[in-house]
Amino acid sequence: MLRLENHSLKDYNTFGIDAKCTILYKINSVADLLTVLNTTNGPYFILGGGSNLLISKDQELTILKNEIRGIEIISRSLNEILVRVGGGENWHQFVMWALKNDFGGIENLSLIPGTVGASPIQNIGAYGVELNQVFQSLEAFNLETLQIEYFNNEDCQFGYRDSIFKHDKKGKYFITNVTFRLTHHHHNINISYGPVSEYLITKNIAIPKIQDVSDAIIDIRKSKLPDPDEIGNSGSFFKNPIISIELFQNLKVLFPSIPSYHVNENEVKIPAGWLIEASGWKGKRIGDAGCYKNQALVLVNFGNASGEDILNLANKIIADVFEMFKIELVPEVNII
Ligand code: EPU
Repeated sequence: MLRLENHSLKDYNTFGIDAKCTILYKINSVADLLTVLNTTNGPYFILGGGSNLLISKDQELTILKNEIRGIEIISRSLNEILVRVGGGENWHQFVMWALKNDFGGIENLSLIPGTVGASPIQNIGAYGVELNQVFQSLEAFNLETLQIEYFNNEDCQFGYRDSIFKHDKKGKYFITNVTFRLTHHHHNINISYGPVSEYLITKNIAIPKIQDVSDAIIDIRKSKLPDPDEIGNSGSFFKNPIISIELFQNLKVLFPSIPSYHVNENEVKIPAGWLIEASGWKGKRIGDAGCYKNQALVLVNFGNASGEDILNLANKIIADVFEMFKIELVPEVNII
């Protein structure tokens, strides 16, 4: 276990914000957690890949960075495997491991930044697949009771970019490992998302394999989303808002091209990227804080933006979108 004091967090968040923390521990095991919690006082903050995080100021916190590793197949049947993965494993590397072994179910979630332990917290999703579709269970360390607890799919209360770990259980659990249910041989290929099927047609791939789906998604993501190693960012900064049918019908009269996705008979989801683009912010910047030119949902740090600079930009966008559409955008990233 490594202990760093008064350390810059610049390399620990994909926005590349240069804020400091009091103490940071790199946690490799449950034993490390017990040592830290028995010898230090909180408040604690659990850090994964720092890819869904905006650090708005220096942090007077003890940061517990999840570096618990390991990928282990725990059961195998004719067409299904259960695999247990350490919470500190890199998500994309786990997807690549699965593809190499011909295990399916997570290929649509290729190239999502962050760690395996963080993946259930916001129920990561992309291109027609959400984590909860392959999630079996997780093991988590309760920071208050110092006990290990287990959560199955239902316990996690998954929703759109949402789980119990963003509500009642927020900040209280260190996710030590996650177990996934993946397919073997007979895969459920999901190319329902328009740009994925279009991409495969242009490549003349009529019967895609899971590797083809992953390749397509990696190319699509790279064309739209900035690489955090080049331009600091946290992926989608805002959630796609869910609004009432009544409001949507009123807006449709004023803005006939407004897109929407079905949610249920009373509500629709609107792409926040469209709202932001319509409000004029796409490609704009204030100092080093910007709204990305290829995908307005992504805010970027062109170099030396502080967390406060990004937050100011986000607040201006929220205000303008609200004025124009009476829809309040809510950040998807965690702001500390
Ligand atoms: N759009 C615009 N302008 C923009 C961006 C988007 O008009 O600048 C409109 C277009 O109508 C487009 C629609 O928004 O057709 C949807 O855009 P996109 O397919 O890029 O998806 P999204 O709704 O913007 C969501 C996720 C992404 C995920 C993609 C693909 C959220 C908050 N974001 O974005 O997740 O990769 O779908 O499934 O749900 C992330 O969470 O970090 C992330 C990148």
